[in-house]
Amino acid sequence: MANVVVVGAQWGDEGKGKIVDWLSERADVIARFQGGHNAGHTLVIDGKVYKLHALPSGVVRGGKLSVIGNGVVLDPWHLLKEIETIRAQGVEITPETLMIAENTPLIMPYHGELDRAREEAASKGTKIGTTGRGIGPCYEDKVGRRAIRVADLADPATLEARVDRALQHHDPLRKGLGVEAIDRDGLVELLKEIAPKILEYAAPVWKVMNEKRKAGKRILFEGAQGALLDIDFGTYPFVTSSNVIAGQAATGVGIGPGAINYVLGIVKAYTTRVGEGPFPTELDDADGQRLGERGHEFGTTTGRKRRCGWFDAALVRQTCVTSGVTGISLTKLDVLDGFETLKICTGYDLDGQVLDYLPTAADQQARCTPIYEEVPGWSESTEGARSWADLPANAIKYVRRIEELIQCPVAMLSTSPEREDTILVTDPFAD
Ligand code: IMP
Repeated sequence: MANVVVVGAQWGDEGKGKIVDWLSERADVIARFQGGHNAGHTLVIDGKVYKLHALPSGVVRGGKLSVIGNGVVLDPWHLLKEIETIRAQGVEITPETLMIAENTPLIMPYHGELDRAREEAASKGTKIGTTGRGIGPCYEDKVGRRAIRVADLADPATLEARVDRALQHHDPLRKGLGVEAIDRDGLVELLKEIAPKILEYAAPVWKVMNEKRKAGKRILFEGAQGALLDIDFGTYPFVTSSNVIAGQAATGVGIGPGAINYVLGIVKAYTTRVGEGPFPTELDDADGQRLGERGHEFGTTTGRKRRCGWFDAALVRQTCVTSGVTGISLTKLDVLDGFETLKICTGYDLDGQVLDYLPTAADQQARCTPIYEEVPGWSESTEGARSWADLPANAIKYVRRIEELIQCPVAMLSTSPEREDTILVTDPFAD
């Protein structure tokens, strides 16, 4: 039985929500394995709009198990609010349909405060442009071995000891940033109050996942953000604080890497990025403006305007390799309708040398200029196309050229936010 990992193959916002929803209908288990409520997935089902940040997309479909794995960082207050909102939309969420790994680190209020205070204090060039949700500081506490985890909520003495350990680290940091000390007793009270509401969903996820796998259940691993924001392989330090690439699906829930049969990379037909950092094909002109307007390029989580640019085949070729992408889902092709010509970046010129990948060193990245190939556009509409026959010849040529350049086949093509407006070439769940 196939298990599928979905990863963003650019800087996030590739349109994963629709594809994940389409696949989650076919899956039995849907698991988040990294990131937190910095993510934003919009699902449109039967005309109803669901906005999810921390919850796996599977929750809105009945009869599925949704899992929050240990690779995630979880803001328990945010989660409880999100559950309430989704319940108010008529969705049932119970401990039978939602499980949270007991070893998941919790995002505390001081993580968000630190994230925002640092960003405010940062000068131009060092600002990351984070979502301000406390993601980075929580992952720092995880590897610093001072995180408060879901299982700690069960025992008041352990919980208080964990809080004290965390405060030993955070209070001096806050002092340096001019932020007042944490109200220790107030925080302990807040945690005790939410403990039973979170513990209801706590489970040994690694065990459950392996049992499901053995029972032949189909598992969908739902990635958030995009591979170019990966802590190791992204445009460091302008990245998020988790591993985003497909290998994280295994460690992020506690399953062996052999459980993964198919990696679907979600790729937008052009490029966008929110936040700071290098973006070789960024457009500051009317074409960039047009991509942003036609593509409604505003962040789901922060509402920030996304930076827009031409398709960068060199970067996607790179992320397809680091995530071992089996096939891609190409999204938002219709946004390119009406451009007379389109540009695709095939590599970079670095001081007169041609590179087929983006180098790691920041100074070299800054000196890289994109090498473009110009291809003809199309005047016809591709919006809503459901078969290759519905696409203009030049749109097909554009897609085929992308496949060649990134050395990875198109498995799905999405031509509008509607579920049915999809051309399916290969079903990732097919045995
Ligand atoms: P953080 O994840 O909040 O620490 O933000 C680090 C970087 O990742 C910033 O550039 C954010 O804009 C970016 N980022 C985080 N989550 C997302 C996402 O879901 N989509 C796109 N960019 C994201």
